[in-house]
Amino acid sequence: MATSYKNGNLFCENVDVEEIAQNFGTPVYVYSKKKILDSLFKYQRALNSHRYLICYPVKTNYSLSILDLLNRHGCGFDIASEGELQRVLAVGGNPEQVVYSGVGKSKKEIELSLESKIYSIHVESWEELDRTEEISRNLNCRAPLGVRVNPDIDAQTHRYVSTGIKDSKFGVPLEDVQELYQRIKHSPYLEAKGIHCSIGSQLTELSPLLEARDCIVDLVDSLEILGVKLEYVDLGGGIGIAYRQGETEPDISSWVQEIVKPVAARGLRLLLEPGRSIVGHAGILLTRVEYVKKSVKNFAVVDAALTELIRPALYDGYHHILPSHQHSNIKPLLCDVVGPVCENTDFLARDRWLTVQQGDVLAILSVGAYGSVMSSNYNSRFRSAEVIVDGNQVFEIRKRETIAEQIQNEFVVCV
Ligand code: LLP
Repeated sequence: MATSYKNGNLFCENVDVEEIAQNFGTPVYVYSKKKILDSLFKYQRALNSHRYLICYPVKTNYSLSILDLLNRHGCGFDIASEGELQRVLAVGGNPEQVVYSGVGKSKKEIELSLESKIYSIHVESWEELDRTEEISRNLNCRAPLGVRVNPDIDAQTHRYVSTGIKDSKFGVPLEDVQELYQRIKHSPYLEAKGIHCSIGSQLTELSPLLEARDCIVDLVDSLEILGVKLEYVDLGGGIGIAYRQGETEPDISSWVQEIVKPVAARGLRLLLEPGRSIVGHAGILLTRVEYVKKSVKNFAVVDAALTELIRPALYDGYHHILPSHQHSNIKPLLCDVVGPVCENTDFLARDRWLTVQQGDVLAILSVGAYGSVMSSNYNSRFRSAEVIVDGNQVFEIRKRETIAEQIQNEFVVCV
């Protein structure tokens, strides 16, 4: 976790979160630099005697300052859109350390990737391969590729984030893989660089990942027999985190050391795309209690909503909540923590015992991944401010949106 209590007050690194709420307003996303780097270093230490590249998935949290921090510490990036590539380029990321996954790459996106000379495009269909070949012919270049394989493995996670089962839209079926690589091999405009799969997110069991790895490694062997020699294996992201207190969490070092074995034994470079396990615990969302509403149920009505954090509404995601100040004089209340948005799904927590009173600041934990990036302007709400803490210093990395910014691209047309 990025937080701890000192004398009853909640701190992020060496800063009292109450101070951050006062200085920057609420809701506000707060990130711990130390927590991000500590998690990244676990991956790097586990892999440092092998050939590897950590390609942080930009989708997880694309704050420019976080991308910059990771870039300066040796990360490559996994992108899912033109915008994500532009963000990587904006912080001086090296295109040669960028891979691109996604089932719906547009012509413009493929063109930009080729012109920027990214490391590899992960092809997810025959149709995309045709499009990529046509574009590289026009640009007179060779597109560096990896096929994203759908190994039909159940990642044993929430079905919304299980991406490696055969009826999911991601990747190509196993039976097409060899033929696809033959096609790539015989085209002067295509080049087979590696192979990719990412079977899902928030995995808490290692076995599906090992199964996927074995499947990919077997494919590498069979492709070599067909004369296709690959440089890297990319096993995607997915290592989960413990959202609930007391839950055991996958141990990054031992999982990664296990995963890398047969890949390293073949002299291949291992790419991993960990997102949540790097930034998840590094972020908290501070929100102020507007009202404690006591009716049939008790509600702590706060100033954050599903517009800031959609995970509870979308996946029934659990996020632990801590008060910024530990009250000793008030009794805990069983309550739902809800926002002001006009939806029944606008809850951040249900049935929690909290010591809350009007005006208190609450910290919603483990929101560094898929938090601010999934926020919206529903109810014309303003995107939150974001800050990063480094020791006893706090830096604003995104200012709160204003109404002027929110409506700047709109026209009032008298129709
Ligand atoms: N690589 C690819 C190709 C991915 O699609 C993803 C996540 C990752 C890597 C990173 O996986 P991670 O290490 O973060 O598990 N919004 C959902 C999660 C969606 C994950 C999408 N893809 C949530 O809030 O749980």
